[in-house]
Amino acid sequence: MSDIASTLTTIQADAIAAITAATDERSLDDARVAFLGKSGTLTKASSVMKDLPKEEKPKVGQLLNQARQAITAELDAKREALIAEADAKSVADLDLTLPGRTLPTGAIHPLTLMQDRVTKIFRQLGFALATGPEVETEWHCFDALNTPADHPARNESDTFYFDSGKLLRTHTSSVQIRTMEETAAPPVRIIAPGSAFRRDEIDATHLSVFNQIEGLYVAENVTLSDLKGTLEFFFKSLYGESTEVRFRPHFFPFTEPSFEIDVKLTAAGKDAKWIEIAGCGMVDPAVFDEVSKARGNEAFGSDKVTGFAFGMGLERLTMIEYGIADIRHLIENDQRFLNQFA
Ligand code: DAH
Repeated sequence: MSDIASTLTTIQADAIAAITAATDERSLDDARVAFLGKSGTLTKASSVMKDLPKEEKPKVGQLLNQARQAITAELDAKREALIAEADAKSVADLDLTLPGRTLPTGAIHPLTLMQDRVTKIFRQLGFALATGPEVETEWHCFDALNTPADHPARNESDTFYFDSGKLLRTHTSSVQIRTMEETAAPPVRIIAPGSAFRRDEIDATHLSVFNQIEGLYVAENVTLSDLKGTLEFFFKSLYGESTEVRFRPHFFPFTEPSFEIDVKLTAAGKDAKWIEIAGCGMVDPAVFDEVSKARGNEAFGSDKVTGFAFGMGLERLTMIEYGIADIRHLIENDQRFLNQFA
């Protein structure tokens, strides 16, 4: 009896020493297993119970329980102390007076900035936004725009064709046709910003996927002076009042007469030389005739309405505005470039 009592005292003292010495959860658990585990010291000591005379069992049982409870309580206390210690350590180096970390915020891409500005200017003049599909029929992209089958732009080496015969639109001019097909009657006054696709070699001034802004105004008695006034107002609003605008005769299949527009930017810091910036012209009657055939009515009949159209490259407008020398900057997502617009 006294034997077992002193054995238990020793076990308890050893256990408490081991628990006290534990430095982390792992060594604490090792101590628990060593004393309370299946073949732990205390568990083994308990095995004497079965050989004890009956009258001694309650007393020894009580001693065993006390030892187990004392060790368990010590384990629990130590575990809590270790957790508290770890918590304290994890915030020990925390300086609450440090400024917060700033998260990088996104910003609007220069192309989007420019498109928004262009849209806003044309809104002032009553132009609505229009869209059309990027996967187009040959008819909408070429035939209806008076572009003959042998026109070089229709060549497989210039245009992305699908097996179905459809294509990726080479210009946004197809939206002119879509809009006239879908509008009940003139007037039509729209701009259509959107992507265009060409099988071009990519270099400092060419991408195979780029963006254009198309414009169309159709009504009775739209004249060339409307076209000039509108586009002069637009370029002066965009690049500054002192911007000069020049219309140079050109050829496009879907307009007659046709012009290329050059601008000369004289605002501070901009190069004062003529730069080609857009194509435009009076809608060719042949376009109205094709549209009328498709509609099956004469709402857009070439003897009833006239109109002007224009198209320009969004990347080019943007490069001129910001002095960007290489078009590829606009698609490479280099933050050093983009941050300048944030
Ligand atoms: N579609 C022409 C191009 O991609 C640009 C253009 C020229 C559009 C004259 C027009 C226009 O609407 O009238 O080169």
